[in-house]
Amino acid sequence: MIAAADFNITKVERSKLNDINLSNIPFGKYFTDHMLEVDYEDGEWKTPEIKPYQPLLIEPSLAAIHYGQSIFEGIKAYKNDKGEAAIFRPQDNFKRFNISAERMQMPAVPEEIFMEGLKLLVSLDSNWIPQKEDHSLYIRPFMFSTDEMIGVKPSEKYKFMIILSPTGPYYNAPMRIYVEEKYVRAVPGGVGYAKAAGNYGSAMFATAEAKKIGYDQVLWTDAYEHKYVQECGTMNVFFIIGNKAITPDLGAGTILAGITRDSAMAVLKEMGFTVEEKALSIDEIIEAHKAGILHEVFGTGTAATISLIKELRYKDYVMKFSVEQWNTAPALKARLNAIRYGKVPDIHNWMYKVD
Ligand code: COI
Repeated sequence: MIAAADFNITKVERSKLNDINLSNIPFGKYFTDHMLEVDYEDGEWKTPEIKPYQPLLIEPSLAAIHYGQSIFEGIKAYKNDKGEAAIFRPQDNFKRFNISAERMQMPAVPEEIFMEGLKLLVSLDSNWIPQKEDHSLYIRPFMFSTDEMIGVKPSEKYKFMIILSPTGPYYNAPMRIYVEEKYVRAVPGGVGYAKAAGNYGSAMFATAEAKKIGYDQVLWTDAYEHKYVQECGTMNVFFIIGNKAITPDLGAGTILAGITRDSAMAVLKEMGFTVEEKALSIDEIIEAHKAGILHEVFGTGTAATISLIKELRYKDYVMKFSVEQWNTAPALKARLNAIRYGKVPDIHNWMYKVD
């Protein structure tokens, strides 16, 4: 059992914070003063270290680079008006992290290292949490294989790290989305439900193709028929059809079990919607659009929060939306933000206090 006292902590001599303007920051470009680093070797996790953010020295033969045993999480910390820091649902990210680890044949990270490490690190760098609407401290836990050998097999050594990045909005404006029917993100039996680094790398080609014709991201469809929708860019996706909020179900193992997705479902229910998780086909979406009952489409994600979709294109059928007139997604975002920034009671127990 690892406790706070078991972490080796080395602090920076001078914070870089004075050199950065926290009121205007792009996503994921700046990193805080400290990071967490723990090695796994000989079947056990070594002493966790919190130390100044710094480069890693790696061998060219590092297994992760060659065969992609690499997973990550995305979490956010917020500050309320009183300046108190809290992290949004980190235990859920911890659980999902080890689900990803299992799928990628990597060791589980013990809860004490993940949760205590997260808390110590965020508390140490809490001055970096921006106190502005739509801004937060993005927390990036990740693990990769560190064997220095290029045989194809699960590595014997791993590194688990957490880095922190003060951040503004990920997608700045309502998005134009291309419904993908050639490339595939995930297949049943594959790694779609895991937060494996390769899922993001392998999505880049199709996304670049969509960008060439003016779209921001793709809406992935199933591998067999290109009929059932899955995820959208780095997000889960919701459709407000009639008085229902519909999101693709997780049954086929092709979709990440988003924590913002889960939170959105809970809040949408509180807002009076019937929430349905089901296999949702593009035909059903188009029918709803033709019938005038497809009211809103939006993505949910830790980085993206709630992102409005102003256009969906499937083959030659284009669905355009007047997002300025929408009520649901903006209200959902406002409700989630009120919880995150401590403006309403945290009835779900989602905020994990840092101090
Ligand atoms: C997140 O929302 O945390 C994600 O994983 C998206 C990220 C790849 C930017």
